[in-house]
Formats: sequence, C-alpha cells, structure tokens
Amino acid sequence: AEKWVLTVTAQTPTNIAVIKYWGKGDEDLILPINDSISVTLDPDHLCTTTSVAVSPAFTHDRMWLNGKEVSLSGGRFQNCLREVRSCANDVEDEKEGVLKSLKGLGDLHVHMCPTIDFPTAAGLASSAAGLACLVFSLAKLMNVKEDHSRLSAIARQGSGSACRSLYGGFVNGSFLKEENGSDSIAVQLADEKHWDDLVIIIAVVSSRQKETSSTSGMRETVETSMLLQHRAKEVVPERIIQMEEAIKNRDFPAFARLTCADSNQFHAVCLDTLPPIFYMNDTSHRIISCVEKWNCSEGTPQVAYTFDAGPKCRINFTQTEKLLPNFFKGCSFHFPPNSDTDLNSYVIGDQTIL
Ligand code: PMV
Repeated sequence: AEKWVLTVTAQTPTNIAVIKYWGKGDEDLILPINDSISVTLDPDHLCTTTSVAVSPAFTHDRMWLNGKEVSLSGGRFQNCLREVRSCANDVEDEKEGVLKSLKGLGDLHVHMCPTIDFPTAAGLASSAAGLACLVFSLAKLMNVKEDHSRLSAIARQGSGSACRSLYGGFVNGSFLKEENGSDSIAVQLADEKHWDDLVIIIAVVSSRQKETSSTSGMRETVETSMLLQHRAKEVVPERIIQMEEAIKNRDFPAFARLTCADSNQFHAVCLDTLPPIFYMNDTSHRIISCVEKWNCSEGTPQVAYTFDAGPKCRINFTQTEKLLPNFFKGCSFHFPPNSDTDLNSYVIGDQTIL
C-alpha cells in the first residue's frame, strides 16, 4: 500500500441548552420534536479535541476514545461517517504537492482519536462536543466543501445536541419540516461576542454516570408522557420566539426566567415518563432553591440555572464580578475553586452546600 497519512486535529466546545430538546420524531435520523436554543461555551472550557487520520495503510475504520479503542458499530457513528464520506473531495497535500484521491473515499479508512477531558455521560453534553468535533475534523480531513449548516445536519445524526456545537455564540437547533432531516440544521442566532458579560458557571454536583442515557430517556418519554406533546406543540414554539428576543436584546431577566422555566419543564416531562426519570438530585434541588430565593430577594432575576440529563448544573450569571461573591455568600455556598479547573468550572460536592 502507498505510505501516506493525512491527519487533522480539531477542537470543539460543548453547548448548553437554555431551551431544551427532548424527544425524537425519528430515532435513526435523530429528528428533534422541537427547536432548541443553546449557548456554546468558549473554546477554553469543556472542549473535546479530536485527531483523525486517513491512509491507504488503514485496513478498517477505528476509533479510540480517550486512548481506549471503542466499537464503531453504533448507528450514529456509522451515519456520520457515511455522510461525511459521501462529501469527500480530493486533497492537495501542501508539503509533497501530491494529490490524494479521496473523492468518495473508495476503500480508504479512517482512524479517529477523540479526547474528552471532562466526565462523559454525567450530563455535561460530552456527546454534543464529541460528535460535532468528530464530524468537523473528518470534514476537514476529507476536504469537504459543504458549509457549517450542512455539517450541523450530519452532526445531528450523531447526537441531536451536537448540531449546535458547530457554531459559537447562541444557536438554534432547528427542527424543520423535511422528513429526511435535510433541513433540521443549526442556525447561529448571535455570535460569541454578542453578550460577553454573560458568564456561565458549571457546578458539577456529581460526576457519576447518569442512570438513564438521553437516548433511552427520550424514547421512554416520547412513548409515555402526555406532557411532552403539550410541551413540544404548545410551549416550546412560543418560548423559542421569546428566547430569541431576550438574546437579541441582552435582556437577562427574560433570559433567566425562560431558562429556569424550561429546565424545570424538561425535568417535569422526565418525571411524567413511565417509569419516571430523575436526573436531578437533592443538591440540584438545593441549588434551584438558592437561586430562586436570591432572585426573589433581588426583585428581578440576577442568576439563572439549567440542568440537563444529569445532576450537574449550569448557572448563568450576568455582571459576575459584582454578583458572584455575593450570590455565593448569600446562599451559604462553600465554593472551593477546583485547582484543576478555572472560573467557569467549579466543583460543588454534595456536602459543601448548606
Ligand atoms: O443530544 P443528546 O442525545 O445528548 O440529548 C441532549 C438532551 C439535553 O441535553 C437534555 C437537552 C439539549 O437540548 O441539549
């Protein structure tokens, strides 16, 4: 076999949904039943790094997650790979000036090495960043010419929330009409500079793996919850409009009210599932009470919280410098900065909150 290897390394941050997606209309294509809106973290925090390589010397596709080989038999990886492959173009190698014929990829195979340096499956949206990064790096490797919106539709087939990590700033993971999902893409609402005093704190309440994966949780909710239908049809469409407005106007009180309400409704829908799904724990509930009390005492919301499919919490702040110390003092948090992390990522252990 020829002895060349092409490699690409890319980094993608995770994103935090402030209007949640929960429930698929089509499980294979991963078509969300409602739009969602998220904030992409800046690339210094909760990032995944993925190196991918293609070479005629590779005999089959392989992947090592955090250095450990994992099976590629899952439909979502296969779908992403197949889709990116179908867009591959020939590559000009700058150093050697040799044209690598990648079009359609023929019998060429890829090796993929994603690294995720935060707990996976603890509800920190590692899959969002992971799949987005995988699709993006493969697309670069294969000289794919399609734009980010097309790549977001491919990443969506890996994980519904992944489509939003293709963009920075504020992003709508749109659910649209086409049955084949071609128009279920991510759309950037505002870039990362739009609201730069919005600060996001991630409180890792527990880094244990969640008991119900989002895939099976969504399936059970779709099959058994009546509240979900009401949410998807009657509540979310209106909230999406209001949230887009709040983001456009940098209206923190409206942003906070919608974010908290949507997080709570998402968890209510989980509770309305048979058997009920509990993603939050006592510490999560105490954080909610602290934030609600704080906001109530301030008159208008100063702080917002949101919880995904796990007990960890995202607390969104505005005007942090003034608020941060006061908030934590006011709520009797003992809030030790974790030496391994930084301002955007503190660890709150169960016992540290009064
Ligand atoms: O994309 P998934 O399968 O990781 O599901 C994401 C679900 C939530 O994080 C709870 C909500 C969202 O929109 O990100």
